[in-house]
Amino acid sequence: MATDFTGKHLITLQDWGLDDIERLLEVSSDLKAKFARRKLTDYLKNQTIFLMFFEASTRTRNSMEAGITQLGGHAHFLDTSTMQISHGEVAKDTAIILSRYGHAIACRNCFWEVGNGYLEDLAKWSSVPIINMQSDLYHPLQAIADLMTMREKMPALSGNKVSIIWAYATSHKKPISVPLSQVLLFPRFGMDVCLAYPEGYELPDWVIRQAEASAKKHGGSLTLTHDQEEAYRDAAVVIPKNWGSWVLNPGDAVVDDLLEANRHWKCTQQRMDLARDNVMYMHALPADRENEVESQVIDGPNAVIYDEAENRLHTSKAVMTLTMGGK
Ligand code: CP
Repeated sequence: MATDFTGKHLITLQDWGLDDIERLLEVSSDLKAKFARRKLTDYLKNQTIFLMFFEASTRTRNSMEAGITQLGGHAHFLDTSTMQISHGEVAKDTAIILSRYGHAIACRNCFWEVGNGYLEDLAKWSSVPIINMQSDLYHPLQAIADLMTMREKMPALSGNKVSIIWAYATSHKKPISVPLSQVLLFPRFGMDVCLAYPEGYELPDWVIRQAEASAKKHGGSLTLTHDQEEAYRDAAVVIPKNWGSWVLNPGDAVVDDLLEANRHWKCTQQRMDLARDNVMYMHALPADRENEVESQVIDGPNAVIYDEAENRLHTSKAVMTLTMGGK
């Protein structure tokens, strides 16, 4: 498998071929095994990555910071409210200058219809790799960790039903980037993807078209439904998670009439019982417990959330190793 990551950005896994993704998973597993054995992996010795955050983070920030340290490099955590961005400095100037100081720039910007464009603007002007730590559209670091977790726990992905299910939450108006990235990625591995949501929580049409094309090409399928029980039935993996009604309603209100009308979209043990016996419950976290999911489920034997979160470390390290290291 000849892959070359020199100068490659990671804004969406849609820009990475299947060979690239296989290499990424291979390097992730290798780094995971070496981390378990306390083996030195200083592949990025003395390299600097800038981590620009427009929003809060637990997993992404800490997997990237711990990850670059374990690779022999160093991260600068940048709260963008304390940068000159807060006084209007543009992406072009930020990208060119940080490129001259270090070896990669990672950024989280989830502002609707702004975030991904900001990442693309950084990529246009940066001379070092740009890594998307979540935008309004994509969360590739989460999607690849999810894929790794499923690969580890299932003999094969192809032919298995994975259901991405909207769930009620009041914690904040969450981006669509997690379900969007999953819906785009999983059909590329031949999975039977079921996307379930109440009316009003649609993903963009272009996402559905791309996912359908991938399913057709790779032997999987894509089913859309407004019936959550249908999504749970016979599923091998369920991913019930909230996302905001951004596509049809770009307002900032967290709780509105549409959300309240759908309180019953919750992952319960009763619904889990419709799935396969060994169904995996996944969630990118943070979860809105008792709203999105019953504690009985998220703390139960089918939940793989901590393994999933752990894989954020190993996959993030692989992304940095390949994009900052080249091969
Ligand atoms: N799943 C995820 O991206 O978590 P954080 O928001 O804590 O980074």
